[in-house]
Amino acid sequence: MSQARRFLLELQRELGGTIPFDRFMAEALHNPAFGYYATRIRGIGPRGDFSTFATLGAPLARPIAEWVHSTRQRHIVEIGAGNGKLARSVLRELGFAARLARRYHIVETSPRLREAQEKELRGFRIQWHATPAEALAATGNSAAIFSNELPDAFPCRIFEKTATGEWHELHIELDPIRQVLRPATLPDSTAFTLGLPPGSRIEVHESYRQWLAEWVPAFHSGAMLTIDYGSPVETLYHRRPQGTLRGYALHQRLDLEEILAAPGLADITADVNFTDLETWGTALGLRTLAHTTLSEFLGKKSAPTEAFRALIQSPSGGRCSVSAQA
Ligand SMILES: C[S@@+](CC[C@H](N)C(=O)[O-])C[C@H]1O[C@@H](n2cnc3c(N)ncnc32)[C@H](O)[C@@H]1O
Repeated sequence: MSQARRFLLELQRELGGTIPFDRFMAEALHNPAFGYYATRIRGIGPRGDFSTFATLGAPLARPIAEWVHSTRQRHIVEIGAGNGKLARSVLRELGFAARLARRYHIVETSPRLREAQEKELRGFRIQWHATPAEALAATGNSAAIFSNELPDAFPCRIFEKTATGEWHELHIELDPIRQVLRPATLPDSTAFTLGLPPGSRIEVHESYRQWLAEWVPAFHSGAMLTIDYGSPVETLYHRRPQGTLRGYALHQRLDLEEILAAPGLADITADVNFTDLETWGTALGLRTLAHTTLSEFLGKKSAPTEAFRALIQSPSGGRCSVSAQA
């Protein structure tokens, strides 16, 4: 029996017989002994396990560098820097003088990817941190913070609408693998307000909301740019009644059954509900400066960027001079 299976069976016993899907996803991605990001990921990009928009050579670096300039912040914080190539391109686009005047911070939780970033960014002055709170403490709580394809990688809770119209939460039972629906206290999400038919499934990135709540109160001035795939809630589940969850391993797409059978062996992701990101930010004191398609942020129309969005927020009480570029 694999280490992952032994661990999950023990967890299932402790939790009373089933594992909520978000807990399964957290262990499958981040468990120090077998989690995909902790132990397995070989890299991101055409020769890694999966590609991101940044690693496919997308023209993200220049618009991000221009945005950083517009914030007039001394500190840049990138959260979840993957293989480090986007950081390298942003630093190059900033130019020598701006690089000298600024400090680049990376928040990274995967030891494997941090190693890859250190290699990729040799020669640049970078400070690594384990959490945004730690990074903010080093910046005096004022920074231009950005991420590309981060919230989609956070563990999500999955809910299904039952025949009686209630939302129940997806739990997992192992040996044999079974999907079990259980009544639950619903988290704060705009997805529950959609008039979806019975049988529909939705995802809520509740762990991302909790993570924001841990550090956003310490974010006093500057701006935050979040780029990811997803959409406003109204269109998120169009033609996707079973939700948007999927896995990736060796550039192959996995469905839920395959994900459940291979904990730790695949990346797991779900499209981001950008309406939730805005609402959660507002509740934490962030003001939305712009919420656009990535094409609009980049200032050009190209098909792949239509699936991506850019959200710019800033602490409402703080100073911010920023171009929304939208
Ligand atoms: C899908 S990858 C995207 C990487 C990169 N931004 C890109 O576009 O290629 C997600 C990144 O977020 C990191 N990550 C996941 N959870 C994190 C967290 N809680 N804090 C910081 N980084 C995290 C992962 O280790 C990885 O570097």
